[in-house]
Amino acid sequence: TYVVTEACIKCKHTDCVDVCPVDAFREGPNFLVIDPSECIDCTLCVAECPVDAIYAEDDVPVDQRHFVALNEELARVWIPIVEVKPAPADAGVWAKVKDKLGLLER
Ligand code: SF4
Ligand code: F3S
Repeated sequence: TYVVTEACIKCKHTDCVDVCPVDAFREGPNFLVIDPSECIDCTLCVAECPVDAIYAEDDVPVDQRHFVALNEELARVWIPIVEVKPAPADAGVWAKVKDKLGLLER
């Protein structure tokens, strides 16, 4: 599966959802996740993300491994998103910020 990681938090550009052939993205208030039971590893979403938030599960950086379980957990409760919507007005400000996990809204 592919996994959405930290960079997406408070950026949420949603370009990724447009290319997914199986509609695997799930939306929360300020973050998206990929449902691992839907993702078919097509790789298309990776290049779409302006903040490079999406990785193959095996390539998730060591300091972000917890996002693998987090995608799985939140995909069970969040609802599908299949259409692009505008990013938050301050998405650019948050793009370079690290350690945003504490800002994740559920
Ligand atoms: Fe969807 Fe392909 Fe990305 Fe998986 S890798 S979430 S199937 S676009
Ligand atoms: Fe997030 Fe990037 Fe998609 S910021 S919503 S993973 S395009």
